[in-house]
Amino acid sequence: MNLETLKSTAKKMVASGKGILAADESSGTIKKRFDGVGVEDNEENRRQYRQTLLTTEGLEQYISGIILYDETIRQKADDGTPFSEILSKKGIFPGIKVDAGAKDLALHPGEKVTEGLDKLRERLKEYRELGARFAKWRAVITIGDLPAQAGGIPTESCVHANAHAMARYAALCQEADIVPIVEPEVLMDGEHSIERCFEVTEKVLEEHFEELERQRVAPEGIILKASMVIAGKKAPEQASVEEVADQTVRCLIATLPKELAGIVFLSGGQSDEKATAHLNAMNLLGKHPWPLSFSYGRALQNAALKIWAQNPKENVAKAQAALLFRSKMCALATQGKYTDEMEKERSY
Ligand code: 13P
Repeated sequence: MNLETLKSTAKKMVASGKGILAADESSGTIKKRFDGVGVEDNEENRRQYRQTLLTTEGLEQYISGIILYDETIRQKADDGTPFSEILSKKGIFPGIKVDAGAKDLALHPGEKVTEGLDKLRERLKEYRELGARFAKWRAVITIGDLPAQAGGIPTESCVHANAHAMARYAALCQEADIVPIVEPEVLMDGEHSIERCFEVTEKVLEEHFEELERQRVAPEGIILKASMVIAGKKAPEQASVEEVADQTVRCLIATLPKELAGIVFLSGGQSDEKATAHLNAMNLLGKHPWPLSFSYGRALQNAALKIWAQNPKENVAKAQAALLFRSKMCALATQGKYTDEMEKERSY
């Protein structure tokens, strides 16, 4: 492990005014996204779509890294250049999703544990040779209607199992000079209040960082991909943008080591504008111990995917314009410089 390499990569990933594009949808997720816009899910369509995203001119102004899926890191553009090489040439780090997905946790109805540790050391070595400089592993935590003490979820055992796997993944990454993105996602599904989300997120982050320390993972070489502290999608009472920003920052400060390289957020089903506004509001709260940036999947791709799907042959440039616009808005939000007014400037 070369800590200096890890630190320098991690620092560049969250450089001022830059964030990460999550384009690592698994086979099941990309099918869902393509079904949603009426595109047939086959390897060539996935390659064309990812090519559209990755070859967007000027993307490197706002995007420091792109997370790819196993199939994508092995694919090439029309001219035969591997996608990872296209990114490296632009100064964008190629990243790789390495978990094997969230599976039902035995004896814990409604809860998941992320798998993928088998042969991970060998896989990381290969991914590094294919150009990956960072990796991602996502754990999924569901908030149920009842608190854990009353038999509800998440249970302590679920949080612990996920944190343990996460820490072992992160240690293997650092051993291979690959920056681990650790992503314990607390889902927005359900009717829970923002207070309940705070309580669960606090517990989840505490447990994850305890395990990371126990497995000797260096915080200066970790990027946390966090979910925001926010009310459930079906909650009758939704918090304001300012409240989400305030509670999220409070939760992070209460739980994370100051040495952590940076934090990027997932969008988790928030609208593109809301995800941008929340990040902006957090960065308006003042200087934090870590850079707060983005690693959105849906919130960066929604508009681009929709436009591309309308006519995959003709709409490449238009889809790229949509991706570039949203990336720019999010980049401005990392500096607290985004306003609603800017939404009127979009050309799509
Ligand atoms: P969303 O921003 O669509 O939640 O995706 C981010 C991600 O990478 C989830 O693992």
